[in-house]
Amino acid sequence: MVGEGGAARSGGGPHAAPAIPTTVAPDAGTLASLVSVAAADWIRAHPGGLVCLAAGDTPLPVYARLVALQEAGRVDLRSVFYVGLDEWVGLGYADRGSCLQVMADAFYGPAGIPVERRRVFDGLADPHAECAAVDRWIADHGGIGFTLLGIGLNGHIGFNEPGTPDQDGCVVVDLDDTTKAVSVKYFGAARPVRQGVSVSARTLAKADTVLLMASGAKKAPIIARLRAGADPTEVPAARLLGHPGLHLFLDREADGG
Ligand code: PGA
Repeated sequence: MVGEGGAARSGGGPHAAPAIPTTVAPDAGTLASLVSVAAADWIRAHPGGLVCLAAGDTPLPVYARLVALQEAGRVDLRSVFYVGLDEWVGLGYADRGSCLQVMADAFYGPAGIPVERRRVFDGLADPHAECAAVDRWIADHGGIGFTLLGIGLNGHIGFNEPGTPDQDGCVVVDLDDTTKAVSVKYFGAARPVRQGVSVSARTLAKADTVLLMASGAKKAPIIARLRAGADPTEVPAARLLGHPGLHLFLDREADGG
Protein backbone atom coordinates (compact mmCIF):
# COMPACT_ATOMS: atom_id res chain seq x y z
CA MET A 1 0.00 0.00 0.00
CA VAL A 2 2.89 2.33 0.63
CA GLY A 3 4.84 3.56 -2.37
CA GLU A 4 8.56 4.10 -1.91
CA GLY A 5 11.15 5.87 -3.98
CA GLY A 6 10.47 8.46 -6.60
CA ALA A 7 12.38 7.53 -9.71
CA ALA A 8 10.84 9.23 -12.73
CA ARG A 9 7.70 10.24 -10.84
CA SER A 10 8.21 13.92 -11.59
CA GLY A 11 7.79 13.31 -15.31
CA GLY A 12 10.27 12.60 -18.06
CA GLY A 13 12.13 14.74 -20.56
CA PRO A 14 15.71 15.92 -20.61
CA HIS A 15 15.01 18.98 -18.44
CA ALA A 16 12.82 17.30 -15.82
CA ALA A 17 13.73 18.14 -12.21
CA PRO A 18 15.51 15.28 -10.42
CA ALA A 19 13.00 13.15 -8.53
CA ILE A 20 12.84 13.68 -4.77
CA PRO A 21 12.87 10.47 -2.70
CA THR A 22 9.23 10.05 -1.75
CA THR A 23 7.06 7.84 0.40
CA VAL A 24 3.35 7.84 -0.42
CA ALA A 25 0.95 6.57 2.23
CA PRO A 26 -2.65 5.56 1.53
CA ASP A 27 -4.06 8.04 4.06
CA ALA A 28 -3.05 10.75 6.53
CA GLY A 29 -3.06 8.41 9.54
CA THR A 30 -0.68 5.94 7.92
CA LEU A 31 1.44 8.88 6.82
CA ALA A 32 1.75 10.13 10.40
CA SER A 33 2.73 6.65 11.59
CA LEU A 34 5.44 6.33 8.95
CA VAL A 35 6.87 9.76 9.76
CA SER A 36 6.83 9.05 13.50
CA VAL A 37 8.85 5.87 12.93
CA ALA A 38 11.34 7.76 10.74
CA ALA A 39 11.71 10.48 13.38
CA ALA A 40 12.12 7.93 16.18
CA ASP A 41 14.77 6.07 14.15
CA TRP A 42 16.74 9.31 13.73
CA ILE A 43 16.45 10.21 17.41
CA ARG A 44 17.60 6.75 18.51
CA ALA A 45 20.63 7.01 16.24
CA HIS A 46 21.61 10.56 17.27
CA PRO A 47 21.62 11.00 21.07
CA GLY A 48 22.34 14.65 21.86
CA GLY A 49 21.33 15.75 18.33
CA LEU A 50 19.23 18.82 17.58
CA VAL A 51 15.71 18.31 16.22
CA CYS A 52 13.59 21.07 14.65
CA LEU A 53 9.85 20.42 14.56
CA ALA A 54 7.06 22.25 12.74
CA ALA A 55 3.82 23.14 14.50
CA GLY A 56 1.36 23.01 11.57
CA ASP A 57 -1.71 20.81 11.36
CA THR A 58 -0.01 18.27 9.09
CA PRO A 59 2.72 17.06 11.49
CA LEU A 60 0.53 17.24 14.62
CA PRO A 61 -0.62 13.58 14.45
CA VAL A 62 3.04 12.57 14.30
CA TYR A 63 3.65 13.92 17.80
CA ALA A 64 1.00 11.78 19.49
CA ARG A 65 2.51 8.75 17.76
CA LEU A 66 6.02 9.68 18.87
CA VAL A 67 4.81 9.93 22.45
CA ALA A 68 3.19 6.50 22.07
CA LEU A 69 6.46 5.08 20.72
CA GLN A 70 8.23 6.48 23.80
CA GLU A 71 5.61 4.97 26.10
CA ALA A 72 6.17 1.63 24.35
CA GLY A 73 9.89 1.90 25.12
CA ARG A 74 10.90 2.28 21.49
CA VAL A 75 12.50 5.74 21.72
CA ASP A 76 13.66 8.17 24.40
CA LEU A 77 12.48 11.57 23.17
CA ARG A 78 14.49 13.20 26.00
CA SER A 79 17.76 11.98 24.49
CA VAL A 80 17.92 14.87 22.00
CA PHE A 81 17.52 18.65 22.04
CA TYR A 82 14.82 20.64 20.26
CA VAL A 83 14.43 23.98 18.52
CA GLY A 84 11.13 25.44 17.40
CA LEU A 85 10.74 26.10 13.69
CA ASP A 86 8.81 29.35 13.84
CA GLU A 87 6.37 31.58 15.71
CA TRP A 88 3.85 34.33 15.09
CA VAL A 89 5.25 37.64 16.33
CA GLY A 90 2.98 38.96 19.09
CA LEU A 91 1.55 35.60 20.22
CA GLY A 92 2.45 33.66 23.34
CA TYR A 93 1.40 30.49 25.14
CA ALA A 94 -1.95 31.99 26.16
CA ASP A 95 -2.86 32.49 22.51
CA ARG A 96 -4.59 29.51 20.93
CA GLY A 97 -2.69 28.55 17.79
CA SER A 98 0.68 29.99 18.76
CA CYS A 99 3.43 27.55 17.84
CA LEU A 100 4.49 27.52 21.50
CA GLN A 101 1.01 26.54 22.68
CA VAL A 102 0.56 23.91 19.98
CA MET A 103 3.93 22.26 20.53
CA ALA A 104 3.87 22.46 24.34
CA ASP A 105 0.44 20.85 24.48
CA ALA A 106 0.91 18.31 21.68
CA PHE A 107 4.51 17.30 22.20
CA TYR A 108 6.85 18.86 24.76
CA GLY A 109 4.42 18.36 27.65
CA PRO A 110 3.18 14.84 26.83
CA ALA A 111 6.71 13.72 25.90
CA GLY A 112 8.15 15.14 29.14
CA ILE A 113 10.84 17.17 27.39
CA PRO A 114 12.59 19.26 30.08
CA VAL A 115 12.73 23.01 29.38
CA GLU A 116 16.53 22.88 29.30
CA ARG A 117 16.31 20.55 26.27
CA ARG A 118 14.20 22.87 24.13
CA ARG A 119 14.35 26.40 22.79
CA VAL A 120 11.32 27.76 21.02
CA PHE A 121 10.77 31.31 19.83
CA ASP A 122 9.03 33.62 22.29
CA GLY A 123 6.59 35.50 20.07
CA LEU A 124 6.13 38.14 22.79
CA ALA A 125 9.83 39.07 22.95
CA ASP A 126 11.73 41.35 20.59
CA PRO A 127 11.87 39.30 17.37
CA HIS A 128 15.42 40.26 16.43
CA ALA A 129 16.72 39.40 19.90
CA GLU A 130 14.85 36.09 19.69
CA CYS A 131 16.47 35.32 16.36
CA ALA A 132 19.92 35.98 17.84
CA ALA A 133 19.16 33.79 20.87
CA VAL A 134 17.82 30.91 18.79
CA ASP A 135 20.83 31.21 16.45
CA ARG A 136 23.06 30.75 19.51
CA TRP A 137 21.05 27.74 20.67
CA ILE A 138 21.39 26.11 17.25
CA ALA A 139 25.14 26.80 17.14
CA ASP A 140 25.65 25.62 20.74
CA HIS A 141 24.00 22.30 19.86
CA GLY A 142 26.05 21.61 16.75
CA GLY A 143 23.45 22.70 14.19
CA ILE A 144 20.11 21.15 13.34
CA GLY A 145 20.46 17.45 12.53
CA PHE A 146 16.86 16.52 11.79
CA THR A 147 13.88 18.61 10.76
CA LEU A 148 10.25 17.77 10.19
CA LEU A 149 8.50 20.34 8.01
CA GLY A 150 5.10 20.96 6.51
CA ILE A 151 4.57 23.07 3.40
CA GLY A 152 2.25 26.04 3.05
CA LEU A 153 -0.20 26.47 0.21
CA ASN A 154 2.20 29.17 -1.02
CA GLY A 155 5.21 26.85 -0.77
CA HIS A 156 6.56 28.27 2.48
CA ILE A 157 8.54 26.20 4.96
CA GLY A 158 8.39 27.59 8.46
CA PHE A 159 7.80 31.26 7.78
CA ASN A 160 10.19 31.38 4.85
CA GLU A 161 7.72 33.03 2.54
CA PRO A 162 7.96 33.68 -1.20
CA GLY A 163 10.44 36.53 -1.44
CA THR A 164 11.99 36.03 2.03
CA PRO A 165 15.74 36.68 1.62
CA ASP A 166 17.93 33.58 1.46
CA GLN A 167 20.16 33.95 4.51
CA ASP A 168 21.71 31.99 7.35
CA GLY A 169 20.25 31.74 10.83
CA CYS A 170 16.85 32.90 11.97
CA VAL A 171 14.79 35.54 10.19
CA VAL A 172 12.07 38.07 10.99
CA VAL A 173 9.58 37.84 8.15
CA ASP A 174 6.67 39.89 6.85
CA LEU A 175 3.92 37.35 6.43
CA ASP A 176 2.52 36.61 2.99
CA ASP A 177 -1.19 37.30 2.37
CA THR A 178 -1.81 33.56 1.91
CA THR A 179 -0.27 32.83 5.32
CA LYS A 180 -2.37 35.55 6.97
CA ALA A 181 -5.54 34.14 5.38
CA VAL A 182 -4.68 30.55 6.40
CA SER A 183 -3.82 31.64 9.97
CA VAL A 184 -7.50 31.78 10.91
CA LYS A 185 -7.61 27.95 10.98
CA TYR A 186 -5.07 27.89 13.82
CA PHE A 187 -6.51 30.73 15.89
CA GLY A 188 -10.19 29.97 15.44
CA ALA A 189 -10.67 33.67 14.62
CA ALA A 190 -8.95 36.39 12.63
CA ARG A 191 -5.88 37.77 14.45
CA PRO A 192 -3.94 40.78 13.15
CA VAL A 193 -0.68 38.87 12.62
CA ARG A 194 1.80 40.67 10.37
CA GLN A 195 5.20 39.10 11.07
CA GLY A 196 6.75 35.81 11.97
CA VAL A 197 10.11 34.56 13.18
CA SER A 198 11.56 31.44 11.64
CA VAL A 199 14.62 29.33 11.21
CA SER A 200 15.75 30.23 7.70
CA ALA A 201 15.45 27.80 4.81
CA ARG A 202 19.22 27.92 4.39
CA THR A 203 19.82 26.85 7.98
CA LEU A 204 17.15 24.12 7.71
CA ALA A 205 18.93 22.86 4.60
CA LYS A 206 22.05 22.19 6.68
CA ALA A 207 20.26 19.41 8.58
CA ASP A 208 21.38 15.96 7.53
CA THR A 209 17.76 14.72 7.42
CA VAL A 210 14.89 16.88 6.13
CA LEU A 211 11.42 15.31 6.10
CA LEU A 212 8.77 17.33 4.28
CA MET A 213 5.20 16.19 4.93
CA ALA A 214 2.03 17.03 3.06
CA SER A 215 -1.46 15.60 3.17
CA GLY A 216 -4.74 16.35 1.44
CA ALA A 217 -5.71 17.33 -2.09
CA LYS A 218 -5.23 21.04 -1.38
CA LYS A 219 -1.46 20.48 -1.12
CA ALA A 220 -1.23 18.58 -4.43
CA PRO A 221 -0.67 21.69 -6.61
CA ILE A 222 2.21 23.05 -4.52
CA ILE A 223 3.80 19.60 -4.27
CA ALA A 224 3.57 19.31 -8.06
CA ARG A 225 5.28 22.71 -8.46
CA LEU A 226 8.01 21.70 -6.02
CA ARG A 227 8.63 18.44 -7.86
CA ALA A 228 8.78 20.26 -11.16
CA GLY A 229 11.73 22.26 -9.82
CA ALA A 230 10.07 25.55 -8.90
CA ASP A 231 11.99 28.82 -8.53
CA PRO A 232 12.87 29.12 -4.80
CA THR A 233 12.01 32.83 -4.76
CA GLU A 234 8.44 31.75 -5.59
CA VAL A 235 8.30 28.40 -3.78
CA PRO A 236 10.65 28.59 -0.77
CA ALA A 237 10.55 24.82 -0.22
CA ALA A 238 12.49 24.56 -3.48
CA ARG A 239 15.54 25.74 -1.52
CA LEU A 240 15.67 22.15 -0.28
CA LEU A 241 15.86 20.62 -3.77
CA GLY A 242 19.03 18.67 -4.32
CA HIS A 243 19.54 18.16 -0.57
CA PRO A 244 20.76 14.58 -0.20
CA GLY A 245 18.75 14.06 3.00
CA LEU A 246 15.44 15.43 1.69
CA HIS A 247 12.54 12.97 1.74
CA LEU A 248 8.93 13.72 0.92
CA PHE A 249 6.21 12.01 2.94
CA LEU A 250 2.82 12.38 1.23
CA ASP A 251 -0.58 10.88 1.45
CA ARG A 252 -2.14 9.78 -1.81
CA GLU A 253 -4.11 13.00 -2.22
CA ALA A 254 -1.10 15.31 -1.82
CA ASP A 255 0.75 13.03 -4.23
CA GLY A 256 -1.90 13.99 -6.78
CA GLY A 257 -3.51 10.55 -6.83
P1 PGA B 1 -0.35 22.98 7.78
O1 PGA B 1 0.72 24.11 7.62
O2 PGA B 1 0.38 21.73 8.12
O3 PGA B 1 -1.21 23.49 8.90
O4 PGA B 1 -1.07 22.88 6.47
C1 PGA B 1 1.82 23.90 6.81
C2 PGA B 1 2.66 25.12 6.78
O5 PGA B 1 2.11 26.23 6.66
O6 PGA B 1 3.89 24.98 6.84
